Order: sequence, then C-alpha cells, then structure tokens
Amino acid sequence: MRHILTPLDFKTQELDALFDLAADIEANPQKYANACRGKKLATLFYEPSTRTRLSTETAMLNLGGSTMGFSDATSSSVSKGESVADTIRTVSCFADIAAIRHPKEGAAMVATQVSRIPIINCGDGGHQHPTQTLTDMFTIRSLMGRLNHMTIGLCGDLKFGRTVHSLIDAMSRYEGIRFVFISPKELRIPEYIFERLDEHDIQYDEFIKLEDVIGKLDILYMTRVQRERFFNEEDYVRLKDFYVLNKRIMRKAKNNMFVLHPLPRVNEISVEVDNDPRAAYFRQVQYGVYARMALILTLLGIHVNEDGTVTQTPVE
Ligand code: NCD
Repeated sequence: MRHILTPLDFKTQELDALFDLAADIEANPQKYANACRGKKLATLFYEPSTRTRLSTETAMLNLGGSTMGFSDATSSSVSKGESVADTIRTVSCFADIAAIRHPKEGAAMVATQVSRIPIINCGDGGHQHPTQTLTDMFTIRSLMGRLNHMTIGLCGDLKFGRTVHSLIDAMSRYEGIRFVFISPKELRIPEYIFERLDEHDIQYDEFIKLEDVIGKLDILYMTRVQRERFFNEEDYVRLKDFYVLNKRIMRKAKNNMFVLHPLPRVNEISVEVDNDPRAAYFRQVQYGVYARMALILTLLGIHVNEDGTVTQTPVE
C-alpha cells in the first residue's frame, strides 16, 4: 500500500507521470468522471482548512466517488480523547482512502503505521504539506512549461511554513533550480533544510528585502506568517506585516515572473496585485484539484484506459 507523507515519497519520474495524468484530467475531465465510482474518501481535519479539504473532496467527487469526514476535531471522538491511531483504525473500516491534517508534526506518519488504506498527509504541523506541493508544481509546470532551470524565490515565514519545506524538498531534485530565501532573521528556513541543500550542492541565496531580489526571480512564492505556530503573540505582531507585495514592488519583477501563494492570504499580497497577469494564486487553486485527482488515482492504483474503462491494480 502506498501513502504520501512528503513529496519525496515519489521519485521525480513518478511525479512527472502524475503531472502528465493531471494534465490529461484537465484536458479530458469526462474520461475520468466515473473512475472512482463506489470509492470513499475520508477527510480527517484536526486543523482549519478551506482549500485543501474542499479541493481533496472535490477531486474525489469529480472522479465519481464520495466523501465523508470531519472538519473540526471537536465534532469527532477526538474530543473524548481518542488517539489518531485508533481513529485511523476505525476509518480504515469505512473508507478506501483517507486525507488527514493535524497540528502535530508526524501525525500522518503515525496514521500510516496502523492504516489499512492509503493516507494522504494534508499538513502535519510546521513539517510537510505534500499535496500543496503537487499543486504548486503542477501550477509551475502548466504556466512555465517546465520544472527545471529556474530561480524560485520563497518569501515570508520560511521557518513554520510547511508548504515551503515540501516545495524545497521536491524542487531540489530538478536540474538547474536555484532558490532565493527571503525572510526576516527570525523566520529563516530551519537548519536541517540548509544542511540538506548543502549536502546536495543546491544553489541558494538569502535576502531580507524582497525589493532587492524580485527582479531576478522566475517564480515568487509568497507565504503568510503562521500565527498559530508562534510561541508568543508579540513576535507575531512584530513580524506579520514584514512583507506586503504591492504594485510598486511588482514593477521591479520580470514580465514573465509568476506569483504563487498557497493561501490563505492575510496582508502579504496587496489586493491591488490580484489583477496583474503575473498573479497566479487563484489559478493555482484550480490546478490543485487536477493534481489531487491524479494523486487519488495513483494511490488507489486506478488506471483509466483511453476508452474510459477502468483497471485497478494493487499498489506496492
Ligand atoms: C497552507 C497550510 O495549511 O499550510 N494552506 C493551504 O493548505 N493551502 C498555508 C497556510 O496556511 O499558510
């Protein structure tokens, strides 16, 4: 059985195949409309979410399957003290695949240890968020036509931003990728990620001011300051508006740069940027549905043939 805890659970060839599938789904949605007929997805969300949960559920519905779950742990037996492991053992009896989001790092991994169905990590604390990364990568591939040879700037809360950690891990494996990390000192990338980049000889630079480097970027990945992971409110208040991307700063960027954001946005991108053709963060949400449809099919071992018939093979 196959799970996704980090994007590294997939080799780059497998990711490329997954994105080819996502592109085929985007071009021929009808072909996939019954691919998961009779299959059930459980969404177990112990932390707030709008896009990730609804996008994963939409993905299953678009494939002809159905969904169940909770979007608030207080409405499940978690509020009575049930462990993640016991909840997953139970859900394994009901559903064919489960998507889980939890505030603790490693929660999804605990789930995989007892699960009888594939687990999709939809965010574990400040650690990883692989389905956002599939979304981000499919967006980049669709907009730029490639996943290699580019400069990617990541800006904002690089310390607690799990989408940042997953995206760096995944993109590090493609040729000619150069990262630019733009953050205040307090919100730098965690040390273990720097070590990994150094170990693999991956090029990166660090900046504090976005204006000093925006002109060099092909992709600008903005993030919000992760209030819920701060130890004290004072630090959050001091750092929350450190970056505000506006029209004036966008004038310094290349004409063919794209701005991505996992969303939700707070203040870090001014709404005046939304109509700029380089603002791709709402298109990114749509790409996320195709990427998650491709992921569900892959984890369930479901192959849709040219004539729309379905073959399911057990996944090793
Ligand atoms: C992200 C998350 O939950 O990590 N949101 C999302 O899934 N699109 C980013 C965030 O909350 O800032």
